[in-house]
Amino acid sequence: MTTLLAAPLTLPCGAVLPNRIAKAAMTEALGDLHDDATPALERLYRRWSDGGAGLLISGHVMVDRRFLEQAGNVVLDDQTDMAALRAWVAAGTHGGNHFWAQLNHPGRQTTRFHSDRPVAPSAVALPVRGFFARPRALEESEIGELIAAFARSAGVARRAGFTGVQVHAAHGYLISQFLSPRSNRRTDTWGGPLEHRARFLLEVVRAVRAAVGPGYPVAVKLNSSDFQRGGFEHDDAVEVARMLAAEGIDLLEISGGTYERVAFAGQRRVGAGGQRGRAPDPRAAATRAREAYFLEYAHAIRAAAPGVPLMVSGGFRTPSFMSETLHAGEADVLGIARPFCVEPDFPARLLAGSADPLPSPEARIRIGRGWASPHSPSADLRAYNAQAATAWFYRQIERLGAGEEPERRPGASVPVLLRYLWREGRRARQRRASRVARRVA
Ligand SMILES: Cc1cc2nc3c(=O)[nH]c(=O)nc-3n(C[C@H](O)[C@H](O)[C@H](O)COP(=O)(O)O)c2cc1C
Repeated sequence: MTTLLAAPLTLPCGAVLPNRIAKAAMTEALGDLHDDATPALERLYRRWSDGGAGLLISGHVMVDRRFLEQAGNVVLDDQTDMAALRAWVAAGTHGGNHFWAQLNHPGRQTTRFHSDRPVAPSAVALPVRGFFARPRALEESEIGELIAAFARSAGVARRAGFTGVQVHAAHGYLISQFLSPRSNRRTDTWGGPLEHRARFLLEVVRAVRAAVGPGYPVAVKLNSSDFQRGGFEHDDAVEVARMLAAEGIDLLEISGGTYERVAFAGQRRVGAGGQRGRAPDPRAAATRAREAYFLEYAHAIRAAAPGVPLMVSGGFRTPSFMSETLHAGEADVLGIARPFCVEPDFPARLLAGSADPLPSPEARIRIGRGWASPHSPSADLRAYNAQAATAWFYRQIERLGAGEEPERRPGASVPVLLRYLWREGRRARQRRASRVARRVA
């Protein structure tokens, strides 16, 4: 039953993905102090490109260099080093696969390492203490500038040779903040009813399309739900999918959660919490509950956006289940992330019909117990916990970028988190110093 995994997929714009396996976006944090691509990114992506996936989506690249998600994010604007960017893209397309740039702005999810005054739709602080400053509300004119920034980045991506772009509207970043009534309290035409909250996303998609022209893949990553009461809920996601279908996008990727309610890496149990009026899929079985975190939401989204290819990301690990998902028409593309950190060429093995499950190192990472567990009642602890587990994956990405092999055994994540925070603080300081030096020179 592996045939569909290897089947090409023609997107509405005419571009063809060579198979149905996609590397979902993972921040690499391997850019330099000028936010440009580096040889480490080239090494990493050449390895992934040669690994056999039909589509690689970059970790988020930023559209505005004042606001980073972390040091080492690449920024696409008029100051970008195009030679370095082209070298990265050449490495990332070496295997004949597609390589898309994921365009993002962190909004209030900009850490204090990078800004004491982030911007957001409204001045609503992220209720995760410590790392995030209270944002200020964007002026209307700034909203227009940000839409133009997304379009400018898309144009830079196309000129550098990326074979498509993905607009990141998920995981609680700026566009997702506009979509959620918890973070968007605006009373103008950018807030309030869903059509207003979705306006920023739709205008970004239109501006990006205008910048790249027809015949070029434009995708969107959307939360199936934020999994928070009073937030962006599943019914909202279905409506936004309908709106996006009318815009003529080429691929819709479904994920879920935010920094406040981390879900995209499986911390949320399937069928639990926050969404309005959705019964879990009656076919839900052990595998379904364990993997494919968001598949139960894909049906309604698919029905609302017929003709838009659907990518579902998060949790896929069993080849037979992956094939069944494609054969059942529940998804067209399967987004996979963490297995790429430990076994960069697993897609080739999967496409060759091997029945082995994909590596799932996340299952072996040691994180806290009891009050400090991933299911702690404290949002702060849950967020730190998720970050601790993620830090181990950043470490493997760093190793691949250095031309080293990934670590075989996931260990305790807290020391890795502390190392990550130390590295991030140091790089953020160095980056600030280099920006000041550049302005002075
Ligand atoms: C280290 C790491 C970095 C990530 N960075 C991003 C990112 O930049 N953009 C994004 O949309 N999702 C990001 N994600 C989420 C993944 O794309 C994916 O949705 C998630 O890991 C679940 O898929 P998996 O179970 O196959 O790992 C990241 C995940 C990890 C582990």
